[in-house]
Amino acid sequence: MATRTPLVVGNWKMHTNFSDAMVLMTQIKNNIESLQGIDIVVCPPFPWLYPLAEALHRSAPRHFSLGAQNISQHDNGPFTGEVSASMLTHLVKYVIVGHSERLAQFGETLQTTNEKIHAALRHRLKPIVCVGEHHRSDNSGQEILKQLEIILDGITKHELEELALVYEPVWAISGHGGSPANGAMVQSVAQAIHEKVSDIPRVLYGGSVNADNVAEFMAQPDIDGVLVGAASLKAAEFIKICELAQYE
Ligand code: PGA
Repeated sequence: MATRTPLVVGNWKMHTNFSDAMVLMTQIKNNIESLQGIDIVVCPPFPWLYPLAEALHRSAPRHFSLGAQNISQHDNGPFTGEVSASMLTHLVKYVIVGHSERLAQFGETLQTTNEKIHAALRHRLKPIVCVGEHHRSDNSGQEILKQLEIILDGITKHELEELALVYEPVWAISGHGGSPANGAMVQSVAQAIHEKVSDIPRVLYGGSVNADNVAEFMAQPDIDGVLVGAASLKAAEFIKICELAQYE
């Protein structure tokens, strides 16, 4: 296991109604309170962020935070339907950028991801940056490092320290019929990332993570946490994942 404090991120995607979201967040918060040596972030849909942030106000454990699933690369302007980083500064601490679903379904590119990282940093949000290849290959590490040259362009050494990077192969995401990568393969990519961009504190793995396989990923020396989609919608399973991921 890595020696950096693990980060577990729940990406709720476009799921939950308001009351489910409140119950889910409250159950998670109440049950992870006693965990130590871990940071936990849940990323609900935009409309729930304000009421959930209000509900957390004063009672959130220090290691539990809200994140957004996306932001605009622009600070303000005529961008119908978009939400800027400055609008979220007081609601969330983290924001996911560059998720493969944004790239595949909403016309975003690696350049857009780069612009969104800059936008997040301008407004003191911590970017959780996703990167991943489309198809299984023996060359994943090389492909990821190439993508990172575009994604991280112009980000200073100091700014890199604010980032978490998620290695999330598109073929491993459960919502698209994927199955998880294996620990050794993920370790080799994470190691290549840590070697190339040593200023990024944490490299996470994402793609079909659940309570049964999280230990395999967390056992890898270069994996510092996980990004969880489907399994983050089940309170008991997500809590179990957090327990198994904590650094002891
Ligand atoms: P999954 O989703 O855990 O359901 O595979 C992860 C993600 O897309 O962030």
